[in-house]
Amino acid sequence: MCGIVGYVGSNLAYPILIDGLKKLEYRGYDSAGVALHTGNALEVYKKEGKVAALEDFVYGKNIQATVGIGHTRWATHGVPSDRNAHPHYSNSGNIAMIHNGIIENYAQLKSELQQKGYTFASDTDSEVLLNFIEDIKINNDCSLEEAVRVALKRVVGAYVILLIDKDLPDTIIAARKGSPLVIGIGNNAHYLGSDASPMLAYTKEVVYINDYELAIVRPDELILKNLGNERITPFVQKLDIELAAIEKGGYDHFMLKEIFEQPQTIFDSLRGRLDAEHQHITLSGVDKIKEKLIHANRVIIVACGTSWHAGLLAEYVIEELCRINVEVEYASEFRYRNPIITDKDVIIAVSQSGETADTLVAIENAKKQGATIFGLVNVVGSSIARMSDAGAYTHAGPEIGVASTKAFTAQLALLYLIALKVAYEKQTIDQTLFNKLLGDLAKVPQYVQDILEEQDAAIQEIARKYADANDFLYLGRGFNFPIALEGALKLKEVSYIHAEGYPAAEMKHGPIALVDENLPVVFVATKDSYHEKIVSNIQEIKARKGQVIAVVSQGDNVVAGLADDVMVVPQIHEIIAPILSVVPLQLLSYYIGINRGLDVDKPRNLAKSVTVE
Ligand code: M6R
Repeated sequence: MCGIVGYVGSNLAYPILIDGLKKLEYRGYDSAGVALHTGNALEVYKKEGKVAALEDFVYGKNIQATVGIGHTRWATHGVPSDRNAHPHYSNSGNIAMIHNGIIENYAQLKSELQQKGYTFASDTDSEVLLNFIEDIKINNDCSLEEAVRVALKRVVGAYVILLIDKDLPDTIIAARKGSPLVIGIGNNAHYLGSDASPMLAYTKEVVYINDYELAIVRPDELILKNLGNERITPFVQKLDIELAAIEKGGYDHFMLKEIFEQPQTIFDSLRGRLDAEHQHITLSGVDKIKEKLIHANRVIIVACGTSWHAGLLAEYVIEELCRINVEVEYASEFRYRNPIITDKDVIIAVSQSGETADTLVAIENAKKQGATIFGLVNVVGSSIARMSDAGAYTHAGPEIGVASTKAFTAQLALLYLIALKVAYEKQTIDQTLFNKLLGDLAKVPQYVQDILEEQDAAIQEIARKYADANDFLYLGRGFNFPIALEGALKLKEVSYIHAEGYPAAEMKHGPIALVDENLPVVFVATKDSYHEKIVSNIQEIKARKGQVIAVVSQGDNVVAGLADDVMVVPQIHEIIAPILSVVPLQLLSYYIGINRGLDVDKPRNLAKSVTVE
């Protein structure tokens, strides 16, 4: 949550910061702001709303500065407003700071500062931290760097902070704990960002800053230290992303682009790993902890949101194929409920961003109790990836749309591979089924392509028909139940329509009371072992005049005959089918959101990367 950028170099900072903020806007868009060092003064410009509002506000001003920091906010402490927007000035006006994270003990620090006469222009915890730093700097008569170090030892919470000081015209001081920070190394310039996207146009060489590290960044110098003031050698990594990957490439929205990228991204997540012809799966991350996995007491999958839905499907698949006990946990609950964990447990952390605070802390806790951590992450070099004992990247490429689409299907592809590999090693799957599943998995990219080409127009029609509904119900059984949950979440996120996902049979235990002629009910009803049962569930909805939209397998005339509207997917093994079923549901949500005139890439109140709890 919140995006931060910084630049020190010899070019004009403002356009670089604005460009960077636009790339990070998916992390929050309640307000945006920049602070520039003009050589002898600090200038701060900030505005409630998206980066475009900041641009309008600054339009026509002649900002001559080659050093600056910028922020796009997802509000935690204090409503979205100009006054709560970052950057903040310290009381003296000599320091400006931006912050991503939460300072948990801010109330205590604030009252201490108020007793000393400090005043606050905002309701934010960030301004408290800034003045706390300034107070230490003044009282200890020390450098800003030293004051930051001292302050951070007392701070409870998560942060990335960037500061500029009137007395240091060529320097940004940065520090992190729990929130991400990347520093790009340019030609006599440095770029700072919450992720690497703001710097992609300028450099491919980056340093990922670790927790409790402090950076002193100048055009020609990057000094890294720990909080004990010892120098650390920066570990420079080469980025493997192209600028095109973070641009819309002719699509109206990132969400649509990312939905249509799925044939390629699923292929990428299988590439070099799945060899259907020779019936072989290569996954070095799994090999690394193979014995642990085979002899695991339990596999515990921890995740949030869409990634949790991928984990839920993985539970069904791993239990079916590998005969290992699996539990799927919301990371936010798991981290606080004192779970019983032993060194015989393997934790699979599923996360697109690799930065989700709850997931990160959940695995940190489990690791302390001896569990082995496997990270299934999209963003290379992210915190979860680095904290894991072993892992595998999903290779979906940067996902910019706040509603996750291509990252989800890449997670599923990889989770299938893991389940199949472990089942094979454990000999809990026979060769015929193994070969069949590998073969079907290899067909998925082409089948997704077929769905996108053949169903897009029909789904646009369905979206128009139901765009004014107030509520939706999504139902599925077995392997398709997690897809019902994901379909409902996607619709909520981008259309603001209330939607609930349920196991189809559970519907009779309450939600059926909602059914009338105004309620669209989406059935994920591909041909599987429960097909006859889901047909009965559809009959039950029809008998109560509900409107049925169904995801059906090609050639299924039974469900097609019952439903008001259908979205057709190719027939494939029931274990693999969910990765296809979700694609029409993503499109349906997208088009309903568009019909309602909403910003589907940046839905209200959401942020892509939830780095606060
Ligand atoms: O980056 P992560 O996968 O850890 O994020 C988890 C959730 O915040 C995320 O899936 C969220 O639910 C998305 N907005 C779903 O579209």
